[in-house]
Formats: sequence, structure tokens, C-alpha cells
Amino acid sequence: MSKHILITGGAGFIGCHVVQLFVNKYPDYQIINLDALTYAGNLENLKEVENSPNYTFEKVDIQNATALEEVFKKHQITDVIHLAAESHVDRSISDPLAFVKTNVFGTVNLLNVAKEYWKDDLQSHLFYHVSTDEVYGSLPEGGFFLETTAYDPQSPYSASKAASDHFVRAYANTYGMRTVVSNCSNNYGPNHFPEKLIPLCINNIKNEKPIPIYGKGENVRDWLFVKDHARAIDTVFHQGEAGETYNIGGFNEWKNIDIVRLLCRKMDEKLGREVGTSEKLITFVKDRAGHDLRYAIDATKIKNELGWEPSLQFEEGIELTIDWYLANQNWLDHVTSGAYQDYYKELYED
Ligand code: NAD
Ligand code: TYD
Repeated sequence: MSKHILITGGAGFIGCHVVQLFVNKYPDYQIINLDALTYAGNLENLKEVENSPNYTFEKVDIQNATALEEVFKKHQITDVIHLAAESHVDRSISDPLAFVKTNVFGTVNLLNVAKEYWKDDLQSHLFYHVSTDEVYGSLPEGGFFLETTAYDPQSPYSASKAASDHFVRAYANTYGMRTVVSNCSNNYGPNHFPEKLIPLCINNIKNEKPIPIYGKGENVRDWLFVKDHARAIDTVFHQGEAGETYNIGGFNEWKNIDIVRLLCRKMDEKLGREVGTSEKLITFVKDRAGHDLRYAIDATKIKNELGWEPSLQFEEGIELTIDWYLANQNWLDHVTSGAYQDYYKELYED
């Protein structure tokens, strides 16, 4: 039987790359993109596939069990790749409950509906939960997160993702569902909402606005190009072993201040500005509350067991990313003005 895959959060940053990859690479699969279209969901990200015969969109909130049940029945869902989440740490600090509602309650809701719908044949279906390295907490200098590293989440965002990961594993253990979890480091690339560090910097440099750096900019993140994450999700979905966890990362650690300086240099070049112009926009601001110092993933297991590794060097990926933002002024304008939120109406309601 052909697969009917429910991808949640497919209108978001990572989800849109996963949806595009699956729709184009697997014409025999039906891809059902389920998304509530919060501020982070943008159907303009999916223009290239919106008319594909194996693609369908459902505007549904994962907190709504009845609506989820209908989608499972209507599309005879065989597998789930779950990305829908509230994803921004700063928003989790100002509104933690929104993160509990979507990331914890929403995930358990989805697990319940999938378990009930698949109950006669649990072993033929996979629930793939996409998570973050932030569940492991903050590392001092040296050391890496392994799949066996104890969870130690430090922000409301990472605590909500950790809780959802635990629920997914508990459903495998208690009810015998086939589940798999992957924990990935920071992604960057096209379609990234400009509230996160890299797209925010690109947008501010372009518009000659101050670039806010939290604290001293000494915090370290491991960065992976978003399409490489989508490839990893494809690999884990098809080759991963049920019950396992896979860490995904770029082997690519950067201090925030160094990444921002790199972006300034590259954008000066591309915009024909004198070298050093954009660096003047750097502004050190109050640190984020409870700011994790360092994340670093050891992605050896997925490399050795499933043969996945990043395809792009960071320099290449960052060039592609800057070029994409410079070439897609319309996308940025729509996101910053809020106009992207009308696209659903135009597409599905007019
Ligand atoms: P995003 O914020 O760009 O997109 C999230 C999507 O989920 C949006 O389209 C939004 O509309 C949708 N959504 C939110 N609440 C919903 C709800 N209640 N019901 C249905 N849809 C809802 O996030 P992202 O950066 O694409 O992250 C996707 C997933 O990957 C998340 O689970 C995140 O924790 C994880 N992750 C992200 C990163 C990263 O660097 N961005 C790294 C590792 C893991
Ligand atoms: P972010 O992109 O929000 O991802 P995360 O917090 O999930 O790692 O932030 C990446 C790093 O950049 C993090 O250390 C916080 C920092 N940062 C700033 O210094 N200034 C900013 O305006 C933002 C959004 C982030």
C-alpha cells in the first residue's frame, strides 16, 4: 500500500523543506501537510508544490483532537512526521503556556489520535517526532551531546520539547507504537522567519538597522543547512530503527559574534558597501534570561548507522542563504508586513 504521510508544521521553516523534498522525491506517496498557520506558518513557502497531485494542505491545530481524527480518516494516514511546534526560545520566555499547549498537549493529542486510528495494526505505522538538541541543556566548553546524554532542558521551549520527546517514547514503551525521535542542532537557510539570529541579521543588515547581540555574543551554536536536515529526516524516516533516537548536526560550531561578523563581511561585499560598514550596526543588548552557553551535537551515530552526513560546507550554505534573502525581497516584505497571512485566504477561501 502506498504511504499517506501526515507532515505537521509543513508551512514552517523546516517543515516546508521536508514537504518539498517528499512531494518531489516520492510521487507515489500522498503528502498531507497539516498546519495551524500560526505567525510562523507561511504557505508561500510551498508555492512550488501547491498544485502537485500528491500534495494536500489541511489547516488544523494539533490541539483539536476531533479535527485530527477527521484528517486521519479522510486521508487514511499511514505515518506521521511531526514538526509542528512553537519554536522560538524568546517567545517561550514571555509566554510559556503557548509552548505547553502546542508542544506538549498538541503532541500527546496527535499520539492519541494516531494510536487509536492505527490500533488494529500498530506495527505497520511510524510516528516520527522531530526534536531539538536543546533538550540536552547547555554544555561547558568541550564535550558533545550524544543520544545517551541525560535530558537537562533549561528554557521553557526546551522543557516543552523534552516533555514531548518523553511522551513519544512512553507511547512506544506503553502501547507498542513504532516511534523514532531525532534531535537536531540549529538550522539555517531559506524561508527562515526573521526572528531567529541569522535571518534577523541578514534583514537588519540589508535595512541598515541595529543588529542586537545578546550578552557578549560568546554563546556557541552548531549550525546545519536546513535542506541537509530535511535529507536527514528522509533518511531516518526510511532507514531509522523504531525505538531509536538519532542526533543530527553540522559538525559546525560558531560563536554568535563570529557568525554575525561573517554575515556583515559577506553582505558588505554583496551589497557593494565599504568593508566594515555593516559591523557598525552590531549592538550588544541585555542577555536572554537563562541563555544556554553552548550546544554541540555528536552526529556520529546517524553517519555510521544510516550513512547521512551534511552535504554543504557552512561557507557555501551561508552564501546560498544570503543570496536567497536578497533574491526574495517579496517573501521578506510579506513576512515583515504580515501580508503572508492573507495567502491562505487567497488560495483556499476566495
Ligand atoms: P517554525 O516555527 O518555523 O514552524 C512551526 C510550524 O508549526 C509553523 O508552520 C506553525 O504554523 C506550525 N504550528 C505551530 N503550532 C501549531 C499547532 N498548534 N498546530 C498545528 N501547527 C502548528 O519551526 P521550525 O524551525 O520549522 O521547527 C520545526 C520543528 O523542528 C519543531 O518541532 C522544532 O522544535 C524542531 N527543530 C527546529 C530547529 C531549528 O533550528 N529551527 C532545530 C531542531 C529542531
Ligand atoms: P536563535 O536563532 O533564537 O536560536 P536558539 O536560541 O534556539 O539557539 O538564537 C541563536 C543564538 O543567537 C542564541 O545564542 C541567541 C542569540 N541571539 C542574539 O544574540 N540576538 C538575537 O536577536 C537573536 C534572535 C538571537
